[in-house]
Amino acid sequence: MAELKINDKERLSHIQPEIYGHFSEHLGRCIYEGIYVGEDSSIPNVNGMRSDVVEALKELKIPVLRWPGGCFADEYHWRDGIGEKEGRKKMVNTHWGGVTEDNSFGTHEFFELCRQLGCKTYINGNVGSGTVQEMSEWVEYMTFEGVSPMADLREKNGHKEPWRVDYFGVGNENWGCGGNMRPSYYADLYRRYQTYVRVYDAKRPLQKICGGANVDDYEWTRTVLATTHEHTPPQFHGFMDGLSLHYYVHPDGWEKKGSATEFDEQTWYRTLYKAYFMEELVSKHGAIMDEFDPDKKIGMIVDEWGTWYTCEPGTNPGFLYQQNTVRDALVAAITLNIFNKHSDRVRMANLAQMVNVLQAVLLTEGEKMIKTPTYHVMHQFRYHQDGELLASKLSGAKELDTKEGKLPRITESVSVDKAGCITVTLGNLSADEPEDVDISFADGIYEVCESTRVGGEIHAHNTFDDPETVKETEISDYEARGDKLHLTLPAGSVTLLRFMPKGN
Ligand code: AHR
Repeated sequence: MAELKINDKERLSHIQPEIYGHFSEHLGRCIYEGIYVGEDSSIPNVNGMRSDVVEALKELKIPVLRWPGGCFADEYHWRDGIGEKEGRKKMVNTHWGGVTEDNSFGTHEFFELCRQLGCKTYINGNVGSGTVQEMSEWVEYMTFEGVSPMADLREKNGHKEPWRVDYFGVGNENWGCGGNMRPSYYADLYRRYQTYVRVYDAKRPLQKICGGANVDDYEWTRTVLATTHEHTPPQFHGFMDGLSLHYYVHPDGWEKKGSATEFDEQTWYRTLYKAYFMEELVSKHGAIMDEFDPDKKIGMIVDEWGTWYTCEPGTNPGFLYQQNTVRDALVAAITLNIFNKHSDRVRMANLAQMVNVLQAVLLTEGEKMIKTPTYHVMHQFRYHQDGELLASKLSGAKELDTKEGKLPRITESVSVDKAGCITVTLGNLSADEPEDVDISFADGIYEVCESTRVGGEIHAHNTFDDPETVKETEISDYEARGDKLHLTLPAGSVTLLRFMPKGN
């Protein structure tokens, strides 16, 4: 029997909503078909954005969206995506399937999407194949209010008011697809490029994100930070507000990856073990960040995370389209609980990717759309956004003895919101054994006001013919035992419990 003790008087750190962020790249059917179908589509849309997708995403309270890549960002030239659509330059999307990109979704469309979603904006600039001038002018185009060549061009293209860019990434994966650079070279480029990423509105300054490490490349983090970490006086809004980190879970390694839906129990555990590796990554990169930035002014920005399997049979391998099972639900729960626990340093994270690519929350086929198990977990966890992490301690749960090593059986995190409502998210990683848990509070007396569960047989997933095999269901299978709440977490499940102070 496990015991979860919650200290409702000990608030540890603020959970920035951006930890629940998303990522949409010009990759496969993420932007085109998945989000943007064009104004003339028979699929219901508002200004070209599919209404079903926007509505489903709004229910998740998406806090921030990253665009246009990914690897695509470092070969994207923003001027190709503005002006009359018929006149927009076509290009080859060399990274993703070699398909023709017609640039019909560009800067104006991205801001329209974020307006509809009501979310913050995270633009990723091009260092790999773009110039300093190009990056600088994009920022001027998007954010300068007044008379200037780029502001005038924006007005000519139909948008007089500047937009708000909340985050700006200076390159993507510059150790790989973004230019194959060495850390010291990229770090110097970062210093240079970010100089011209001007902050035109001091009241709403954009935050600059420096390109960080791939997985456990701690040398990259150390070298880049040594060159870039100083903060110039606040009026210059530099050098950096965040450092990124990318980590994907490939159950059978980068080369083989493994099927999204056909796996044995051993692979289930290997996948979850690899997801749990995020704990080590965040801790170790965080420790290096602490050396340079003990006051934690620089946020860790995990702007790409998720599972990456072999694509679905019969689909374009360059489109990274994959199914999503209860295993992905558990990966999401493990990862999001880790981010909550490290929210003193992790300020933003972006699930890769939002629709039809990798660990997507939504899948589409023509006019049909389904919510994945990951969607339902993100929906449960949305209550943590903007909460305060509470101290919580889990004891008594047996560890899972996997081939890879020991793995905690239960994942958890706890937060309190401004109204005093406490959110607990728990996952049982076991493929076949339920686990009993007693929950207690150090101080107040609470009662459950909401409780849901996502789970099922470990391979369970939703299809276009059967879209609700895995869904978030209300539960009431808990009971008060003295001053504790007792419940059983089924194998392969994620549980949300919300508590209000008794008598409220
Ligand atoms: O998300 C898919 C790709 O993974 C991104 O384009 C790239 O940044 C990463 O390697």
